[in-house]
Amino acid sequence: MSKPAPENWSSKIGVILAVTGSAVGLGNFLRFPGLAAQYEGGVFMIPYFVALLLLGLPLAWAEWSMGRYGGTRGFHSSPGIFRVLWKNNPAAPYLGVLGLIVPVGIYMYYVFVESWCLGYAWHYLTGALDLGADPAAYKSFFGNYVGIGADASIFSRLLGAPLVFLVICIALNFILINRGLTRGIEQFCLWAMPALAVCAILVLLRVLTLGTPDPSRPELNVLNGLGEMWNPGAADKSIWEALANGKMWMEAAGQIFFSLSVGFGVIITYASYMRRNDDIALSSTTAVAGNEFFEVSLGGMITIPAAFVFLGAAGAVGGTFALGFNTLPLVFEQMPLGRFFGFLWFFLLFLAAITSSISMLQPAIAFLQEGLGLNRGRAVALLCGVGTAGTLLVVWFSKDLVAMDTLDFWVGTFCIYLLACLQTFIFGWIFGTKRGLEELDRGADLRVPRLFTFVIKYISPVYLLIVFVAWAWQDVGARLDDFAESAAVRWSLLFLLALLVLFLWWIRLAVRRWNMEDRAS
Ligand code: ALA
Repeated sequence: MSKPAPENWSSKIGVILAVTGSAVGLGNFLRFPGLAAQYEGGVFMIPYFVALLLLGLPLAWAEWSMGRYGGTRGFHSSPGIFRVLWKNNPAAPYLGVLGLIVPVGIYMYYVFVESWCLGYAWHYLTGALDLGADPAAYKSFFGNYVGIGADASIFSRLLGAPLVFLVICIALNFILINRGLTRGIEQFCLWAMPALAVCAILVLLRVLTLGTPDPSRPELNVLNGLGEMWNPGAADKSIWEALANGKMWMEAAGQIFFSLSVGFGVIITYASYMRRNDDIALSSTTAVAGNEFFEVSLGGMITIPAAFVFLGAAGAVGGTFALGFNTLPLVFEQMPLGRFFGFLWFFLLFLAAITSSISMLQPAIAFLQEGLGLNRGRAVALLCGVGTAGTLLVVWFSKDLVAMDTLDFWVGTFCIYLLACLQTFIFGWIFGTKRGLEELDRGADLRVPRLFTFVIKYISPVYLLIVFVAWAWQDVGARLDDFAESAAVRWSLLFLLALLVLFLWWIRLAVRRWNMEDRAS
């Protein structure tokens, strides 16, 4: 079996849209507004922007730099790239397992949420979501739809909408990924990202022109709704008291990683398909800026004011899924042309989700090709089997979404922190900031500030470690109790362990193959 032919992005706009597509996802439209509302808007924006400048942006630059360096040496997945970056450490490729397990593990539950979005968009078209003004009706629709009440309940309706839309989403993901980097990911993002922006801007315009829907409550107007998101300072405490909330700082950092797809193993893979003299400095910065536009200007400014003007400050608070799937449908119900805007909202969520989920598959596809020598079709079939097994686990243990929550905690938070720490260390201390900066500067259309090297070497690791230790201290104990109490948690962790062993075994085979290739050349 021969090495796959080298692949490259076909245009600069293509790669920027693909990376922005990976970043812009459910994190921007559901997770971010949920967190911002929970921490009273403007206060949350402070740790959020600090984390963006001290962790997100520096690490994004580092991933692009390491990714292209690895790519020009023939590697496109974290195990191969870490092996090139950290030559004298035989453990380096094995550490790269994090760059496979994070994207694949997140994909397994992300695609399920993606299918809810497509399903809801469809139900808006058919009118099945015209449920009147009773909040309980939306809650119960959502609960039934995703199977919150009982494990495996969506399997009891074999041709029911949830399962059908899940199958459609899984198939779409693997069809796109099977078409390859440029014909699949890049072509799709070239139309999906502008379409997503148009849908989001239309919904935003609708929300910003809502005025004061209930004249008997003039305080519930759009301006106050925007203030809900931007004004720092809570009603009952000073801004300093509000800022002294450690958990908020941790959640803000976690949100930045999740949202930018940094510490995911995805950007390093996408950047590895850049050519040696392509610009990466401006492209990476544009992708980060694009993500922030979608997150703050569209995601936050649609959901929070919309919920506020109809339901008041309490209506905007409710967590990731409650805000998107319970509160907003209630808001659309009360809005002129609500059914159309409901459809647009869920369709844009679906587009945002699929451009992210395909990016989560590419690192493992690249690894299976370059590490095990599989051709694209076989790599796609194998990953489809593994990914679907994980999704079935999440769908099976649907009661209270326990399996999804377990994967999100251990993979979508814990492993992301670990991978982010590892990448910062490899870039700052092994690869070296001097070489890293040279890589960023080659072909650059933008000069990255020199201060970056100091930040990534000293500030980001300390910041990351403090956040990580504080977070682990606070949350891991409770999680271990769940392990003792819930069979669903135990099965989910057992599955993750099996996935880890499988990937490590494949890396072992890959390392043997790469060592043989080195000796032969
Ligand atoms: N970055 C992707 C999101 O925000 C995963 O959803």
